[in-house]
Amino acid sequence: MDTVLLSDSIIELEKAAEFIRDGEIVGIPTETVYGLGADASNEDAVRKVFEAKGRPADNPLIVHLADFSQAKDFTTSIPDIAYKLADRFCPGPLTMVLPKNDRIPMITSGGLDTVGIRVPSHPVMHRIIELSGRPIAAPSANTSGYPSPTSAEHVMRDMKGKIAAVVDGGCSEFGVESTVIAIEGENSVRILRPGCITAEMLKEVCSEVIIDHAILHELEAGQKAASPGMKYKHYSPKADIIMVEGELDNFISYVGSHYGDNVYSLIFDDDKEKFPYRYMTYGKNSSEQAHLIFQRLRELDDAGAHRVYVRAPETRGVGLAVYNRLIRAAGFEVIRI
Ligand code: TXA
Ligand code: MG
Repeated sequence: MDTVLLSDSIIELEKAAEFIRDGEIVGIPTETVYGLGADASNEDAVRKVFEAKGRPADNPLIVHLADFSQAKDFTTSIPDIAYKLADRFCPGPLTMVLPKNDRIPMITSGGLDTVGIRVPSHPVMHRIIELSGRPIAAPSANTSGYPSPTSAEHVMRDMKGKIAAVVDGGCSEFGVESTVIAIEGENSVRILRPGCITAEMLKEVCSEVIIDHAILHELEAGQKAASPGMKYKHYSPKADIIMVEGELDNFISYVGSHYGDNVYSLIFDDDKEKFPYRYMTYGKNSSEQAHLIFQRLRELDDAGAHRVYVRAPETRGVGLAVYNRLIRAAGFEVIRI
């Protein structure tokens, strides 16, 4: 299949919407990462998404809507707290898991009776949803297991020949995927995947915000995942990623004693003056780290890195999202020095 690269002009967005209506798949920019969009109500289209990504069938897709008011068309009930959260955070990088109705096929929800609903703020994604008139199922547009794409070029690299088109909407603003939450009670939510809508921000609307154990810890054998995505190895470049927690001086001596060909470090911007070994940097605060992390993991592969020592980000605010992606990329290998 020829994969066409579309611009974000209105004529080309009409083309993208037509592909979606015709049951084809399109790579679409969002404010978090690029998504692999298909008509969420079309089983054949959704099947193609799972095939293109090589994604396990039990890992559900998020359904993207133009406005949260449409959520009632695809769910059986919406608690008040969901409306309060939507008032505050939609459109934006928040996904709410709600009980689904029959308009969302089982293949889309990975066999679950719930559906993740998200109202993206990116104008291109928003426009394509409106023009297509369909709910759009969209996982991140990477090959399953590989770092998520934050540019049209990343999507082309992973998906060329497998999907109908990619729309180029520039680099993704946030750089990590949406915060996924489940509603636990009248005023309580559980974070299943951290993102740029942070626990601290959710706390301004909900009295209780639970951070699911699996966000920072490996699931033990037989333990059930609150979100199927937590079961799988994720975000991994080809290189071995090793997260290292500790002061810069200790990090430098640790890397020094494990140094060799094709060994890289991923460090903070402020570290580079002092750092004597091969490195890339990933920003100077959590938002910059989120924006850069997936791009850097891909660049490290391009550079031929075999092993990468990463200075661990903090676990507060947006840092929790960055830490969560890195600890999974590292297969939970963390060294404390
Ligand atoms: O920012 C995003 O959310 C991006 C853009 C494209 O919107 N999409 C995205 O989709 O990250 P994906 O499929 O790569 O990740 C969705 C995550 C998975 O870990 C999945 O298991 C979880 O959300 N998820 C989806 N529906 C769920 C449900 N009904 N219950 C529990 N977890 C769910
Ligand atoms: Mg993904």
